[in-house]
Amino acid sequence: MRFIKAADYNDMSRKAAGILAASLIMKPGCVFGLATGDSPLGTYGLLADWYGGGDLDFSRASAFNLDEYRGLGPDSDQSYRYFMERNLFSKINIKQENRFIPDGLAADPRAECARYEAAIEGCGGIDIQLLGIGLNGHIGFNEPAGEFCKDTHLTDLTESTIEANSRFFERREDVPIQAYTMGIRTIMRARKILLIVSGERKAEIVERAFFGAVAPEVPASILQFHNDVTIIGDDGAFSLIKQNLGD
Ligand code: F6R
Repeated sequence: MRFIKAADYNDMSRKAAGILAASLIMKPGCVFGLATGDSPLGTYGLLADWYGGGDLDFSRASAFNLDEYRGLGPDSDQSYRYFMERNLFSKINIKQENRFIPDGLAADPRAECARYEAAIEGCGGIDIQLLGIGLNGHIGFNEPAGEFCKDTHLTDLTESTIEANSRFFERREDVPIQAYTMGIRTIMRARKILLIVSGERKAEIVERAFFGAVAPEVPASILQFHNDVTIIGDDGAFSLIKQNLGD
């Protein structure tokens, strides 16, 4: 694993956007795996700015999001589809047909999961997967469990994730309790993984996930077994790491 120290959230975002931009420049038909949440917002803002400045061209790129709430459609302002359209897709020239997100309104969850896996495969697999990490060590919505879930699946969200998400909803009872998510195997198949993490409240999970035992109770720990992972963290997020990360 490669650790890159960032001074703060903005510095983390600049470094992450730089890596994603370089991937696109090196491979114009790059297949991105993308995340939602607070962590990538700054990164998406920069990619949009650089596209606006004429430095990037997403016309041949594709993007697969990690996850989507079950029960929310593209018009719901809490859906991840809405988030992606608002914060990135509407600001760059990625083609509509190349924006992939699980369909939260799908009638047949099992078929939807199979369709999603097949679509990723059909695009030749993910070149670079951007990840955040949950306070409990989740990646995508792969929550702590007794085993690693492999492929894209429908999952029950844990209390801690529902609690963390409730800040985005007016009423707690509106917070979805299930979500579609890429599985651990789906994520691990990405050729490169770029995880971004900011803030002291994530310091403990960063230490456990990347320096502790690899176990499904800390889903992100599996990334220790991937051969091309870059973790960009700011001072707060890396504050409990005792090992020398180099410079
Ligand atoms: C989002 C996702 C989640 C988040 C994680 C961190 O698509 O899959 O795993 O990456 O919950 O969220 P933030 O960045 O809001 O702290």
